Amino acid sequence: MKIGIIGSGGREHSICYKIKKTNKNVDLFCFPGNAGTSTISKNVNIDPCDFDKLYSFVNKNKIELIIVGPELPLVGGIVDYFEKKNIKIFGPNKKASQLEGSKIFLKNFCDKNLIPTAKFLEAKSLDDVNKFLKVTNFPIVVKSDGLAGGKGVTICKDEEEVINDVEEILNGKFSSSKKVLLEEFLQGEEVSYFIITDGKNFKTIGTAQDHKRIGEGDTGLNTGGMGAYSPSLIMNSKLEKKIIDNIIKPTLDGLNKIGITYKGILYAGLMVYNQEPKLIEYNIRFGDPECQVLMMRMESNLLDIILSVFNETLIHKTINWNLNPGITVVAASKGYPKKFVNNEEIVNINDVVQNDTQQLFHAGTIKGKKDKIFTNGGRVLNSTVISETLADARYRALKILDQLDWSNKYYRRDIGFKVIGK
Ligand code: AMP
Ligand code: GLY
Repeated sequence: MKIGIIGSGGREHSICYKIKKTNKNVDLFCFPGNAGTSTISKNVNIDPCDFDKLYSFVNKNKIELIIVGPELPLVGGIVDYFEKKNIKIFGPNKKASQLEGSKIFLKNFCDKNLIPTAKFLEAKSLDDVNKFLKVTNFPIVVKSDGLAGGKGVTICKDEEEVINDVEEILNGKFSSSKKVLLEEFLQGEEVSYFIITDGKNFKTIGTAQDHKRIGEGDTGLNTGGMGAYSPSLIMNSKLEKKIIDNIIKPTLDGLNKIGITYKGILYAGLMVYNQEPKLIEYNIRFGDPECQVLMMRMESNLLDIILSVFNETLIHKTINWNLNPGITVVAASKGYPKKFVNNEEIVNINDVVQNDTQQLFHAGTIKGKKDKIFTNGGRVLNSTVISETLADARYRALKILDQLDWSNKYYRRDIGFKVIGK
């Protein structure tokens, strides 16, 4: 079978790894992929949002299934486009993708379907801001409505910050949208909860804890994610029942009521306080870097599970896991999530030992001459290890990154600090 994977991050490398490991006979194509994916798939340098160009390649090369990693092409309607061409494509369609593509759509949807979430208001003017400030304590969260690559959320400690942020967004700071959302700040522990669904039935496909801030001790700017571990250690059957009954089921039912069938991965970003879960956001795809750990821990055949979504046999599938925990530590280029330098050679990368318990998934990397590998992005590599203890997994993941060298190498050494210390 020929399969196309859309994307170029650590998430997509880990999906390629997982599929190839259990399905030796598949041929993988990555659009556009990275240096890591090029060792197990054919990288094709086509922009994932150029649907016509993608189709032309997919059609010519008889690719039978497309799996979409990132949100941008999903929100842009890649699934609708390929479904019209009768090509199997895994992911939610454009309407369903609004769950991530428009935070205001999501909040109104939560309101209608009684899904627990932070109090909110769409601020159309500074008058609205004043109204919200009167009834909400600081900090207050200001969000841009549309996709902003992890940069659209600010936690504001006073009125001045709120007003500055709101004005910037209303004035067009983000090209995706000028709409602004104000939210109450939720206290608690964050959990990433993943399901796979065919629109009728769903299965849980893992839990994880991400670390979004750039600095150790969860300080500094928000990023796409600097490391994650799985499973989440605050999860238990009582909490999971609440997540399913109060959040997941009302979401799928609410979508069906407005004529939207959700197919694909749905990632609930949750805040849990006193064992009560609230929805912070939905993502319409696997998380990056959470996916990297899930792919190492999953024992079932991912491809088989994905295919069951198309023939609606997901209900009969069981998803099995290695019970050992896993961790992934993201190595970035110093400066990320702001400015950073590309094209630095990563020394010793070809010496890393990789096996069933440890993998170095690539993100922003590119191949040069003579097997040399260079940095090509903010987040560069993901050292992913499963082990009997999380502490040992982190020790090994860091050891792998310690042996690599490039002058702007940066990573947090404290991923998982809330559960295993620094
Ligand atoms: P989002 O882009 O919605 O995922 O937000 C990015 C991060 O900001 C989340 O992972 C949380 O850490 C934080 N965040 C967003 N909304 C809230 C909220 N209402 N209360 C507390 N933290 C939040
Ligand atoms: N790791 C967070 C995300 O993928 O959105």
